[in-house]
Amino acid sequence: MRHLLSIESLSPADMKQILSDTAVLKRERGHHPRQPLAGQIWAMIFSKASTRTRVSFEVGIRELGGQVIFLPASEIQLGRGEPIKDTARVLGRMVHGAVFRTFAQADVEEFARYANIPTINALTDEEHPCQILADVFTVQERLGPIPGKTVTFIGDGACNVVNSWVFAAAKLGFELRIAAPKKFQPSSDLLKRAGGRVSCTEDLLEASRGADVLYTDVWVSMGKEAESASRLEQLKGYQLNSTLLKLAKPHALVMHCLPAYRGKEIDEETFEAHAATIFDQAENRLHAQKAVLQWLVG
Ligand code: CP
Ligand code: NVA
Repeated sequence: MRHLLSIESLSPADMKQILSDTAVLKRERGHHPRQPLAGQIWAMIFSKASTRTRVSFEVGIRELGGQVIFLPASEIQLGRGEPIKDTARVLGRMVHGAVFRTFAQADVEEFARYANIPTINALTDEEHPCQILADVFTVQERLGPIPGKTVTFIGDGACNVVNSWVFAAAKLGFELRIAAPKKFQPSSDLLKRAGGRVSCTEDLLEASRGADVLYTDVWVSMGKEAESASRLEQLKGYQLNSTLLKLAKPHALVMHCLPAYRGKEIDEETFEAHAATIFDQAENRLHAQKAVLQWLVG
């Protein structure tokens, strides 16, 4: 049985397959010759807020012929303490697949083990695999094959989105530079597990020089709200703005997984000047996740 639990556990071959299917599904939108989810009902269990992931999965599952039940964790017994493994065994007997957004990566993995149905990680504290598949697709759509390109991440370099970028770098053969204060850089254990050409620095000017892509994410990820004031203070120099953009390649992309906080991780002017890329990136969540769904059900 296939799952999408992390970029770490996804093989390069499967990743490339999903990326090439994404292009086909994007082209064919509105007239798909196959309905791989026909007759299926999928559950979406979300313990955190979501706009893009929720809507793109709800639309994508329906467009592939399936139906969907949205289950906010706070409205099912999971939110009152029913164990993941019991929730998983119940849902596994009733639905055909699950999309799960939560805190601990171990919870998504436990769910997949007990539910025995294809399970997708829709974001945990450790990874956001669906985001990175759509992001790599967006880079390739605009700049051509990603191998050999340089992606620079600026901001909270220890968040879920960065972790998934780190694992993608070795699998797809691009250079990843992370510009973040020491405390917000990925752990050496994670860097060792991932391998590949990944460097970390506090020098955001040097990291931006000659980059093909400048990428950022929020300074305060979901679940870190209690650290909000200290994060804003510590990360305030790490903004994606025109100073950095001038150092990147002339046609460098500016990307953001969204939601964006203007004046924090990115300035208004840079965001709006690159809105076409950023909202293509958001739209591509739909196409990439449809490719994931199709890959899961074979
Ligand atoms: N980028 C992303 O996952 O957005 P949502 O939190 O709105 O789903
Ligand atoms: N790092 C962010 C991503 C949001 C899509 C978070 O976890 O809140």
